[in-house]
Amino acid sequence: MTSAKEAAPIIQLTDVSKWYGTRDKPVHALAATNLNIAAGELVVLLGPSGCGKTTLLRMIGGLLDPTGGRIEVSGKDLWRNGERQGAAVADLGMVFQDAHLFPWFTIEENIALPLKLRGVSRTERRERAQELMDLVKITGFEKRWPKELSGGMRQRAAIARALSYDPSILLMDEPFGALDAMTRDSMNVELQRIWQKTGKTIIVVTHSISEAVFLADRIVLLSPRPGRIDSIYNVDFPRPRGLDVQSSPEFQALVKTLRHRLSEVE
Ligand SMILES: Nc1ncnc2c1ncn2[C@@H]1O[C@H](COP(=O)(O)OP(=O)(O)OP(=O)(O)O)[C@@H](O)[C@H]1O
Ligand SMILES: [Mg+2]
Repeated sequence: MTSAKEAAPIIQLTDVSKWYGTRDKPVHALAATNLNIAAGELVVLLGPSGCGKTTLLRMIGGLLDPTGGRIEVSGKDLWRNGERQGAAVADLGMVFQDAHLFPWFTIEENIALPLKLRGVSRTERRERAQELMDLVKITGFEKRWPKELSGGMRQRAAIARALSYDPSILLMDEPFGALDAMTRDSMNVELQRIWQKTGKTIIVVTHSISEAVFLADRIVLLSPRPGRIDSIYNVDFPRPRGLDVQSSPEFQALVKTLRHRLSEVE
C-alpha cells in the first residue's frame, strides 16, 4: 500500500470545523482540522468520548455540514454553500454501530436496497447481493430476516449493503462496538480481509486502542473538545495481520504509547 500513499489523496480536509447550535450556547465540537487520506488507506480515528469522532466522520460522509473549511472527496467538493454535492457522496458508504437493517426486508433485500433506490434491475440486484454475501461470508442467509442473524452477521450484512453501489470509500463508526470481544476480534480480521480484497479506502472510528493498532495503516489521535488532531501514528505490521500480532512486544509497545498519550490529552 506504500505506493498508494504517495498518490493524490482521495479525501482532503482543509480547516474543517464544526460548531453545533444549541438552545443555550453553541458547542465547539471540532477545531480546524487538516488531514489527507490516500486511496486504499485504512485510517483509524481514535479519541476520548465526545471528542468529535462521529462529528468528523459524519461530515466526511456528507451527513452533516461543516461550519467551516473544505472537504474534498476524489478531488470534488463535498459541500458547497451548505449543500451536499451528489457526485462526491456517490463515492461514500457508511456503516454504523448498529446495523440499521430494515426488519421487514430479508437480508438480500436489505443489501440490495441502495441499488433498488438507484433503479438497478432486479436480476442485477440479485447478482450483486450474492457477490457481496460471498464477500462478507453470509451466503445462505439471503431469505432470512435480520432478527434471525447474530450481531456479527448483521454487521457483515451492513458492510455488504454499504458496498452495494461500489463506493471507493467506506466510513465506519464503531462498527463492532456492540459486539462481544471474541466476535469483535474475528470481525476485525474479516474487515482487514475485505479491505485487502476490495482495495477500498476505509476510515474506522473506535474507542479501542488495540482495535486501532490491529487495523490501522495510520492512527489519528484526537484530543478532547473541541476535537483536534493531537498526533498521528503509522502502523507498519505486515499484512495480513493475524490476531497473534497482538501479543508481539512491538504491538504492545504501541498500545502503551497510545494509552499514555490518551491519558495525557483527556
Ligand atoms: N447535534 C448536536 N448538538 C449539540 N452538540 C452535539 C451534537 N452532536 C454532538 N454534539 C457534541 O459535540 C461533541 C462531539 O460529539 P461526537 O458525537 O462527535 O463525539 P464522539 O467522539 O463521537 O464521542 P463518542 O466516542 O462518545 O461516540 C460532544 O461534546 C457532543 O456532546
Ligand atoms: Mg461517536
